[in-house]
Amino acid sequence: MAALRLLIHAPGAPGLRWFGLGPGLRPTRGLWKLQRLFNKHAFWAQGRTMAQLRRLLAGSTVVVSLWQGKRLVGFGRASSDGIYRAVLWDVVVAGDLHGQGLGRRVVEALLATPALLGVERIYLMTTNSAGFYEQLGFRAAEPQVLLVKQAASRPQRDGGSSA
Ligand SMILES: CC(C)(COP(=O)(O)OP(=O)(O)OC[C@H]1O[C@@H](n2cnc3c(N)ncnc32)[C@H](O)[C@@H]1OP(=O)(O)O)[C@@H](O)C(=O)NCCC(=O)NCCS
Repeated sequence: MAALRLLIHAPGAPGLRWFGLGPGLRPTRGLWKLQRLFNKHAFWAQGRTMAQLRRLLAGSTVVVSLWQGKRLVGFGRASSDGIYRAVLWDVVVAGDLHGQGLGRRVVEALLATPALLGVERIYLMTTNSAGFYEQLGFRAAEPQVLLVKQAASRPQRDGGSSA
């Protein structure tokens, strides 16, 4: 099994966004691989176009990717104001590698970045992985209520909503 490498991208992940760069700053068609990872393993993030993924990356404060050789096997990103509020988005691990600690590695790497470290509250939304996040210190936000305003139609140029 090829060694795992975790990349913490610069804000907006310009290398991944424009050149598909992976480990060692080598071009690996990374954006296409991200699209495939989402399509196969992230039910809420299917059908995103390359243009939408570029925009999603450009608008993210922190982006983390996990590679096994040239294969993209994990991903996560976050938005943050650096002090009071941050939100985790699009945390995903390839299905055949679940249960090996990779998801934990992705989330811990996000939480350890300067943009998230020390932030007062870090939020996330999950449909069926609450137990995973509870192991990482997250708790259900009751009595807070999650409200959502959905775009009337999926924007063509925007990333749409996730989770
Ligand atoms: C959720 C996800 C990222 C977890 O990644 P993973 O690599 O399988 O998780 P890990 O192996 O790092 O698990 C860490 C711990 O959480 C537990 N865990 C993992 N998924 C869990 C789940 N869905 N519910 C409860 N506990 C879970 C593991 O058993 C492990 O516990 P341990 O340390 O006692 O062994 C992965 O299952 C995934 O990509 N799922 C599909 C996409 C998804 O639902 N993402 C979350 C969107 S918010």
